[in-house]
Parts: sequence; structure tokens; C-alpha cells
Amino acid sequence: MIDPASIEKFEQIATPFYYYDMELLGHTVDILASLSRKYDIDVHYAVKANVEKRILERISSSGLGADCVSGNEVLRALECGFPAGKTVFAGVGKSDREIYDAMTAGIEAFNCESLHEIYVINAMARAYGMRARVAVRINPNIDAHTHKYVTTGLFENKFGIAGHEFDALADLLGRCDSIDFTGLHFHIGSQITEVGDVFALEARRTGEIVSYFEDKGLKVDNVDFGGGLGVDYEDPDGNSVARFELWMKTVSDNFPRRPGQKLHLEPGRSVVAQCGSLISRVLFVKRGETKNFLILDAGMNDLIRPALYGAYHKIENLSSHFRRSFSEMQAYDVVGPVCESSDVWGQGRLLPMSVRGDLIAIRSAGAYGQVMASRYNLRDFAPAVFSDDLGNAPRYEDYFSRLP
Ligand code: LLP
Repeated sequence: MIDPASIEKFEQIATPFYYYDMELLGHTVDILASLSRKYDIDVHYAVKANVEKRILERISSSGLGADCVSGNEVLRALECGFPAGKTVFAGVGKSDREIYDAMTAGIEAFNCESLHEIYVINAMARAYGMRARVAVRINPNIDAHTHKYVTTGLFENKFGIAGHEFDALADLLGRCDSIDFTGLHFHIGSQITEVGDVFALEARRTGEIVSYFEDKGLKVDNVDFGGGLGVDYEDPDGNSVARFELWMKTVSDNFPRRPGQKLHLEPGRSVVAQCGSLISRVLFVKRGETKNFLILDAGMNDLIRPALYGAYHKIENLSSHFRRSFSEMQAYDVVGPVCESSDVWGQGRLLPMSVRGDLIAIRSAGAYGQVMASRYNLRDFAPAVFSDDLGNAPRYEDYFSRLP
């Protein structure tokens, strides 16, 4: 819940902005770090979900590692306190520069996604007289039962190495002289809500694949199950912390861990989604032919998830908490200002009767929000504002708010 004292301060702040509840972030991260110790599973935060420095610093301070998908993410993670030895680097298309920088930094492992990539990393390591640690991302052909744009573990997806290349892979690893094979990596999708079923299937399938490579004479010291734990977009206050324990227990119960083997998880969304909200103001209320539109000053360029995936985000009128009398509920199509018909926050949303200037929160926006923003329509980027530093937020210009 966004506390009333903060909402009062929002009145002074220019909108739109991303609000981060640092207390909730800290609470979430502490729970995750303690479960990581309890289940003896290394956790690497998937940096791509949110790259704000203060957020990364809070996460790294709890001892978690980082999962990156670009050279710049690796550099940012290191800059924000994640040790190189706990930083992994995945992605189907790493450039030579990215490989060189990460190898020089001495990262924990490259999660390689094709035979060609392994060949190139081996050749680069040899050419520069270095060694690289390499884990191999496998495509296990498992349906994560989530949106097709965030499904990654099916044969139709570009990610990982699939079964028909396993023999060639084992052969190639045997011939590479400048890399150290560290283990296997998986990631089957994001916003997975059937936690017990889908992750149990992933863990069992992983067990079979590990055995296959062991039979080929490879020692699989590390097994990384990727990220994907879903969050509750409908009820961010009721379920502000994701089901981390169920996830870890499911993986532990369904994967036959070998002695000395290290397990890893890479949560992104579930760490940061609920601590973030996109805060905006109502610019205009428009009576359409068949519906009412609430036009906000935040648009799809600030948070593209509804337009791109048809994603649901809870919308709240924060100003209505302060009205003396009960406001009647009204159905609105809540929309942004961008010149695209898909710039819609939600259709037919029931909200208290809203007026120009009301503060509106779009909840669960901490993950894949700010990082996916663009400057489409030459709009400004919405800045980050932290709950423990509201005094330094950009100020709303009172002059404008006094106009009708
Ligand atoms: N590991 C790898 C290799 C990944 O590709 C991802 C996410 C994660 C971990 C973290 O997954 P998470 O725990 O966040 O589900 N933009 C989309 C989500 C894309 C996820 C991409 N990969 C969205 O807004 O829903």
C-alpha cells in the first residue's frame, strides 16, 4: 500500500514519475536472501527488470548475485556492488566487445546459448591468453503457460541449445582448451503463476538432462533454473512478496541434487515489481459517445507492458483517499497521451469519480517498467523517486495547477 504520508508529498512532485517503496524492496530482498541460505540455492537478481542504481545497491548489499544480458548490465552490476564472481551473463547475441569486457572482469560464468558462441568464446579466450567459465543454456522444450512473448523454453524460441545438438555440444566442450565448463542453465519463461506444476516439471526435466551430460563424462557442478516466478498484479497489497519459498521448495524437492552441486535461481520481476508504482496525474476527463475517458499524463512510452502484452496493472486514484465525502464509483477507460490507440492503461476500470489533477497510481510497475521506457513522441523519461528521499524529487510547478 502506498502510505498516506507519501501520497501527501506526491502533491508537490512533478508527474509522471516512478515511485519506489524502499522499505518493501528491503523486506523482499531480506526474505529472499534468508531463503537462499535456508535452501542453499544461490540467487542472482535478473538486472534487466530494473537497473536503478539505488535498487541494485540495496539488492547487492544483501549478498545476492546478478544475472545480466548485456555488457552494459554487467558493468552496471559491478559498479553497484555485485561481485564479478557472482555475476552471470546470458543472451543469444553477445558482441565481441561484451565478451571481452566480461571475460576481463572475471565473471562467474557466460551462459552460452549456441555452439557457435562457445566456439567463439573459446577462440577469444585463447587469443587473449585468458580462461573463460562457460555454462550452457539448454532449451528443455517446456511450456511455461504464460504469455507467448515471455515464453522462452520451447523449441520454437530462439533461446538455449536443444536436444538434437547435445552430442555435438558434448564433443565441442571436450575439444575447447581455453574454457572451463561449469554447468547447465535453463530459463523457460516469465510471470509463471503455476509455480508448483511448471517449476516441478522444469526441475525433473533438468535432472534428466544433467544425467545425460554426466553419462557423456561432463561434470555438472552448477545448475541454474533461471527466473520466471510470477507476481500478483491484481492484488499487489495482499501479495506484496512473491512465493519465493514455494518456488525454492519445488525446485529442491524435484531435482536430485548431486553432492557438492550448486543450484541457482535468477528472479527479476518477483524482486522489484511490487515496490514500484508509476504515479501520474489526471489531465482531462472526457465524455465519449459510449464511455468516459480518464486521460493521464503517463503514457505507453513510460510503461509499455499493457500496450505490448495486454498486461493488467491495478489502477488506483490516490487523491480520492483524502476526499471528505464518499465519491461515487464510475467506469473509465484510463488512457495515456501518446498518439497510439494502444496507449490504454485499462478499459472499463471502476474508480472513484475522478477530476483533473487527481493523482493516479499504476501499481506493480517496478519490473520491466522504467527499463523499457522510450522517448516516443519526444516525451521525457519519467524519473525515479525513492520513498526515503521524497524531498529531492522534481517539483510540480504550482503555477500551472492553479489554472482551471
Ligand atoms: N533469466 C533469464 C535468462 C531471463 O531471460 C529472464 C527474463 C530472467 C532470468 C528473469 O525472469 P523474471 O524472474 O523476471 O520472470 N518484459 C517482460 C519480461 C521479459 C523477461 C525476459 N527474461 C515483461 O514485462 O513481462
